[in-house]
Amino acid sequence: MKIGNIDLGYRPVLLAPMEDVTDIGFRLLCRRMGAAMVYSEFVSCDALVRMVGKSLKKLEVCDEERPVAIQIYGKEPGPMADAARIVVEQAHPDVVDLNFGCPVKKIASKGAGAGMLRDVPKLLEITRSVVDAVGHEVPVTVKTRLGWDHEHKIIVELAEQLQDCGISALTIHGRTRSQLYSDQADWTLIGEVKRNPRMHIPIIGNGDITSAERAVEAFERYGVDAIMVGRATFGRPWIFKEIVEKIHSQNGLNEETSTQPSTLTDENEQGAGLSLDWKLDILKEQVITSVARLGEQSGIHHVRRHLAASPLFKGIPDFRQTRIRMLRAETVDELFEIIEHTRGLLHQL
Ligand SMILES: Cc1cc2nc3c(=O)[nH]c(=O)nc-3n(C[C@H](O)[C@H](O)[C@H](O)COP(=O)(O)O)c2cc1C
Repeated sequence: MKIGNIDLGYRPVLLAPMEDVTDIGFRLLCRRMGAAMVYSEFVSCDALVRMVGKSLKKLEVCDEERPVAIQIYGKEPGPMADAARIVVEQAHPDVVDLNFGCPVKKIASKGAGAGMLRDVPKLLEITRSVVDAVGHEVPVTVKTRLGWDHEHKIIVELAEQLQDCGISALTIHGRTRSQLYSDQADWTLIGEVKRNPRMHIPIIGNGDITSAERAVEAFERYGVDAIMVGRATFGRPWIFKEIVEKIHSQNGLNEETSTQPSTLTDENEQGAGLSLDWKLDILKEQVITSVARLGEQSGIHHVRRHLAASPLFKGIPDFRQTRIRMLRAETVDELFEIIEHTRGLLHQL
C-alpha cells in the first residue's frame, strides 16, 4: 500500500494521532514495535502561524521514526495553508494530515476538527488550499469521522469530494462526532467507501482495533488498505507486533468481503509469544525515555496513562493497593521497585 511514493508494505498498521500521547518518544517506540507509519499529536494551525513555541515543539521529528505524518487542525483555508507550509519547512514530514475528526467541544464547537463536518464547502476549500500549498512537495491526507451525527453520515459522498481535492489517502474513524467515543465503531460505511468504484486513494480504517483478530477482520471484511490503532496502544505498544505477526501468518488466506455484522468481533488477543518479562521491560524503557525527555516528575506523569491502561496489570489478585502505589509513584526508583514487585507477583500466577 502506498501513500504518494511512500510504500507502507502489505496491510500496514499505523499509530493514530493522539494528543498528549504520540510524542516523538512514543512514536519511535511504536515504529520499533512494527507500526508502519506514525502520526504526531494534532497541532493548531493558528498557533503555528503565531509561532507559539509549544506548538512548534510538536513539529520535532527524527529520521528513525519515518515515515511520520504531522497532523494540523484549524477552520480557515489561509491559516491552514500557511501552517502546512511551516510544517513542511520545519519538520519535513513524510505526510501532512488534516484533522476533520476531533470531537472535543472546545474545538468542534468552534468549527474546527469534526466541526468542519457541518460545513463541507469550507472543509473542501481548506483541503484544496493545503493541497495547493504543499501537495507538490508532500502527500496531503485527511482524517475524519462518518459525519456529524446519525442523521448526517456523509462519509461516502465526502470521500469522493476529498479525493477530488487531491488528497493522497483518507482515514475514517467509524463513529460520528455526536458519538464521541461511545458505542462500537461502525465499519459498514468505511467498507462502503472502499468498495465505491470511483475511489482510488487508499482508505485507512480506524476505530476499536483492540486485537490482532480484529485487525485481520478489518482488512478481510471491509477491504481497507491500512488500519490505524489508537487507544489499544496504551500500555501495550507491542500490539503492533501482535497484529503484524498475525497478518503475516494469515497472508494468502481468504480476503473476501462479507455483509455480516458491521462491528468487529471482540476477542482478546494476548499473543505473539512475547514474554511477560520482555513486556515489562518495554514499559520500563518507556518510563526512562519519557523521563529523559521531560524530567523525572513530568516524565512519570506522562506515562501514567499507559501504566493505568496496561493489560499486564489487569486481573492480578489483591493488586489494588500496589496499583494505587504504582500510579502515585513520583520517582523512577520508586516506580521501578513497584514494577519489579509486580513482576514477582505475575510470575507466581
Ligand atoms: C487521548 C486521545 C487523543 C486523541 N488525539 C487525537 C488527535 O490529536 N488527532 C486525531 O485525529 N485524533 C485524535 N484522537 C482520536 C484517535 O486518533 C482515534 O481516531 C480514536 O481513538 C479511535 O481509534 P481507537 O479506537 O483505535 O482508539 C485521540 C484519541 C484519544 C483517545
